[in-house]
Amino acid sequence: VTARVENISVIGTGYLGATHAACMAELGFNVIGVDVDPEKIDSLSRGELPFHEPGLPELIRKHVDTGRLRFTTDMDQVGAWADVHFIAVGTPQVKGGTGADLRFVDAATTSLAASITKDALIVGKSTVPVGTAARLADLVQDTTQEGVQVSLAWNPEFLREGFAVEDTLRPDRLVIGTRNPGDEATLREVYAEALGRDTPFISTDFETAELVKVAANAFLATKISFINAFAEVTETVGGDITTLADAIGYDTRIGRKFLNAGVGFGGGCLPKDIRALQTRVAELGLDHSMKFLDEIDQINLRRRKKAVARAFELLDQDIVGKKIAVLGITFKPLSDDVRDSPGLDVAARLFNAGADVAVYDPEGNRNAAKRYPRLGYVNTLTEAVTGAELVILTTEWQEFRALTPADLNDLVAAKRFIDARNVLPATDWENHGWTFAQLGRKM
Ligand code: UGA
Repeated sequence: VTARVENISVIGTGYLGATHAACMAELGFNVIGVDVDPEKIDSLSRGELPFHEPGLPELIRKHVDTGRLRFTTDMDQVGAWADVHFIAVGTPQVKGGTGADLRFVDAATTSLAASITKDALIVGKSTVPVGTAARLADLVQDTTQEGVQVSLAWNPEFLREGFAVEDTLRPDRLVIGTRNPGDEATLREVYAEALGRDTPFISTDFETAELVKVAANAFLATKISFINAFAEVTETVGGDITTLADAIGYDTRIGRKFLNAGVGFGGGCLPKDIRALQTRVAELGLDHSMKFLDEIDQINLRRRKKAVARAFELLDQDIVGKKIAVLGITFKPLSDDVRDSPGLDVAARLFNAGADVAVYDPEGNRNAAKRYPRLGYVNTLTEAVTGAELVILTTEWQEFRALTPADLNDLVAAKRFIDARNVLPATDWENHGWTFAQLGRKM
């Protein structure tokens, strides 16, 4: 028999945790978000987010006001209070390696388990190497105080940055891995609203639950590198990569999504997840099973180099001192995240080669400046392109997709453009006298 779920804690209030906490409050639960960083807790308590995510600040403020959502640094407070604890701390790539760094997950689980004084379910949401849940279940058993019943479940998260709230409240599917009877019922109660809408609910073991997450991200990365590998071919022989993607995408077995060729994937998830998966599988002695992901990674990284090579070509190999406008520095639109960002990588390479780089991004400049303080950051599109010898579109924000030749004709020093996301109509620009390059298109 499971107790009714009323109180929920979320350990880790970064991207995933802050979103999950706010959405659980929206579903009617009392929620406390826990983090070791007092500054983060202070700003969240005021309804301020340290990152950009559409709709999330409003949702947090709403439930800070309803009183259903609070934040603390005090683990003991939730250990005595919550019925369900979600673990949502990060699993970054280890410094100097390719595997996942599990220090935060281990530390959060240990300190949580030690603080629990009321029967509860711990639910891991972080992306982890297969085998982690089983190891943490043992850790929880060893750490939990006597007389308290604590169980562990795994419930991977599939939210996209830019659509985090929507994806959390209306997921495509829910996946849970459990070992103890009763835990599934508890999670069905937590997700009752989505289940009422017939959201597919996959109840499975730890290993499958852990693997579903990395398999999904590996598949998405593979789709992107697949089309980008064909872009290398059309760049050489001619042909139109977008038409090719459209044509294969009509096959419902293939599907058109994630077949946009360009400067490739980045962000805090896809790149590190495919590397961590390969590393984990190799540790298990399966050296070959995920070896293809190495190619996926290599194809992806080659796209950045190709964008830089195109810039050299368009400027006749002479880029020193030339003003280059880089439009878009976040790893994708609707985010201020610059982790492993292709656009930022391209800008840094051009800067290191001696170009006078002017970076403009609607949301990303602040984070990019922390990582590469020496690039030239400007606050408007006009400033970026004025006097530019070359314009490169690296992230397809709506304001860049809407650009027309007439917007830039009188501002630039020379009409040279690289559309590294294939979002603008090439012939239009060429008809207005531009030298217009795309990734996947023969020059
Ligand atoms: C990704 C997954 O899509 C989520 O399902 C997952 O939950 C998340 O990682 C995670 O593991 O937390 P996200 O990193 O927010 O989400 O970004 P995506 O929308 O997947 O885009 C990833 C990258 O691929 C971006 O740099 C984007 O520009 C690039 N991309 C995407 C392409 O180059 N071509 C495409 O056709 C699609």
